Amino acid sequence: MIQTTLDIATIRKDFPILARKVNGHPLVYLDNAATSQTPKAVIDTIVDYYSRYNSNIHRGVHALSQEATDAYEQARAKLQLHFNVAKIHEIIFTSGTTHSINLVANGFASILEEGDEILVSAMEHHSNIVPWQMLSEKTGAVLRVIPMDESGDLLMDKYEQLLNERTKLVFCNHVSNALGTINPIEEIIAKAHAVGAAVLIDGAQAAAHLVADLQALDVDFYTASAHKMCGPTGVGILYGKESWLKQLPPYQGGGEMIAEVTFEKTTYADLPHKFEAGTPNICGGIAFGAALDYLQSIGFEAIAQYEDELLNYATEQLLKIEGLKIYGTARHKTSVISFNVGNLHPYDIGTILDKLGIAVRTGHHCAQPIMDFYQIPGTIRASFSFYNTREEVDILVEGIKKAVAMLS
Ligand code: ALA
Repeated sequence: MIQTTLDIATIRKDFPILARKVNGHPLVYLDNAATSQTPKAVIDTIVDYYSRYNSNIHRGVHALSQEATDAYEQARAKLQLHFNVAKIHEIIFTSGTTHSINLVANGFASILEEGDEILVSAMEHHSNIVPWQMLSEKTGAVLRVIPMDESGDLLMDKYEQLLNERTKLVFCNHVSNALGTINPIEEIIAKAHAVGAAVLIDGAQAAAHLVADLQALDVDFYTASAHKMCGPTGVGILYGKESWLKQLPPYQGGGEMIAEVTFEKTTYADLPHKFEAGTPNICGGIAFGAALDYLQSIGFEAIAQYEDELLNYATEQLLKIEGLKIYGTARHKTSVISFNVGNLHPYDIGTILDKLGIAVRTGHHCAQPIMDFYQIPGTIRASFSFYNTREEVDILVEGIKKAVAMLS
């Protein structure tokens, strides 16, 4: 029984897209791990920006530039407060988590030496594997993998065995996009610090569901993407401890990130501008702040509780379908269910679900090593948000049954 205090019917009215039809059916949007939908408050913020004060920031003396600069910096301050970050310049605006991770990987190219070791978890998104492979090729550092078990929990004893004085960096997602596992990041960070390694936690899949207190975690780097949090695409953040951000070289050269430029030499701007070359996604940053306001107005605790109830209901209902197997049954999960039915191809089921107006993701979810671990080509992934309902879960279940009947 769903116990939530949230008024989901009213919340759904905040999202214009949820009222549309797809292929003649009411949209059932269950692809929230790929991107979340956008509430009217955020859409209005975007329209307001372009209607009233669109201009470049940190540059102009004119009123519009000042208004845009203030709004952009207010958004940064909201993010600082939300993630409990000590200093506002420890929040760098980026184009999203992939950009944030590449920025750090690029910076460590001048720090790592041959024989140093980098640890990544077995359940990483490609964006948290490929940049480290590139870094390892550049520096001669060795990439090692923290293994996981069948349920999608990391093997923490193996992690401890992998850590040693050569370990310089540990990378792990807070939540797995393909399995929904919530990783024990407190323990991961503490153990890495005990051997002197820095830790980057990819918060892309967690930030819409959980609040990470970055000072309490004592994490070195943390990332988030606005579009997973009811904000727009193309904007995100990198949190970095001031000491690291001062040590890392700039990622891109250009306007805004400089103090002085001559043809002989350039000195770099202070944080956060050192890492924010070029005109940023100004509107996106401001809208990110509005998305955070919106999520806070619903309440992160209420969101987590409701999504958990929905996850349990959906898991129970899906498991009633003959031959359905769920991948990712970790002890702590967010509202992501990856599954297959018998030997049916995920893409075929996904295509039929789409014809019924049900949006899910199919394939390897940018996490091919996870699929290799389970020896499958991919899964169907239903990922739920606080605006999804139990009725939508029932529609999904009926849709899968129809698809199975058609494909068998
Ligand atoms: N990383 C996103 C996903 O999991 C795109 O679907």
